[in-house]
Amino acid sequence: MTQPTLDASQRALERFHHRFDAEPAFLAMAPGRVNIIGDHTDYNDGFVLPMALPFQTVVAARARSGPKVLVASEGYGEASFSLDSPTTAPARWARYIHGVGAMMRDEGLAAGTWEGCIATDIPGGASLSSSAALEVAAAYTFAAAAGSEISANQAARLGQRVENEVFGLPSGIMDQLASAASSAGHASLIDCRSLDVSAVQIPQDAVVVVMDTGTRRELVDSAYADRQTTCIRVAQALGVPALRDATVADLRRLDAEDDVGRRRATHVITENHRVLQAVAAFAASDLTEAGRLMNQSHTSLSGDYQVSGPAVDVIVDIAQNAPGCFGARMTGGGFAGGAVALVATSDVEAFCSHVSGRFSAPASQPATAPTALYPVTPSPGASVHYL
Ligand code: GLA
Repeated sequence: MTQPTLDASQRALERFHHRFDAEPAFLAMAPGRVNIIGDHTDYNDGFVLPMALPFQTVVAARARSGPKVLVASEGYGEASFSLDSPTTAPARWARYIHGVGAMMRDEGLAAGTWEGCIATDIPGGASLSSSAALEVAAAYTFAAAAGSEISANQAARLGQRVENEVFGLPSGIMDQLASAASSAGHASLIDCRSLDVSAVQIPQDAVVVVMDTGTRRELVDSAYADRQTTCIRVAQALGVPALRDATVADLRRLDAEDDVGRRRATHVITENHRVLQAVAAFAASDLTEAGRLMNQSHTSLSGDYQVSGPAVDVIVDIAQNAPGCFGARMTGGGFAGGAVALVATSDVEAFCSHVSGRFSAPASQPATAPTALYPVTPSPGASVHYL
């Protein structure tokens, strides 16, 4: 199992020196996130409880005159594009950046042109929101290049717009808001209707462990969109604005034949409750209860919502039976990638060696990246550092 290097800032700085033979004016950084509990609730106006990771995407940059942005990304080469042109850069990674800048201009937000270098410590495709971090870091970079500032909520909404409008993914706001608005030492309870973010302390007796199975999703965007369409359809059938407003008892009013709708909605409604119950459990330092809710969440996501995957199911099962584990579940969109566990601080080492000694991706879903376990501390959200 590999451990990440934690020096994206250093690498972005060094690359800038090398590429531009000068000092950057600032570093804009945005973390990845892991979701402790509350998946597939954000686009139902519901509740989520993610935390920002100590892994970040960092842009080292300085303002530049003229209409063009020039950006080099570690391992992906260079891209150059104009915010005056609707034509997006050809490389996918650059389209996230161009999309954010173009939308800032579209919304009348200050977005300056810049040149810079990007490095990241966030493993891609591991359910840790590397694309949301890139979007949020880009928003902070465009604002800083204009000598301006952008709020966490604005940056998060721009990132979501890019996912929805540039990439056609109908994703919710959780990933971007967790990256932009988290505070150090705390998870973030997000009300995805009001966008209120409340800091939630995880008791010191527990550590969150990210478990990357090394498997990566392919072609699952349609499965995500399909879940969302079903949720909207069920909310409409029940006459409520979103599934946030429905109860399990309401589901009796659904057509008896609509088994899929009932199961999907049951997940969303019960998951919203579990998030709020988990917040109460953390406040009461009841880690056993918090872990029980995480286990239930996994059962619901895997069974009723059908968004888990073979490798994630295997690692969650191993983790749930490992020393010191209060609870474990898939995290994020699902199908492959990562899972999360809540582990007694005193047992973290034993937990990690138990899981790493037993897990290997099943033959039906081979790993294409290294498997890795990361005990993580809740980290601060995005920021800009002027040099
Ligand atoms: C992805 C999306 C989020 C959220 C999760 C599932 O990460 O980007 O908006 O819907 O899946 O909770």
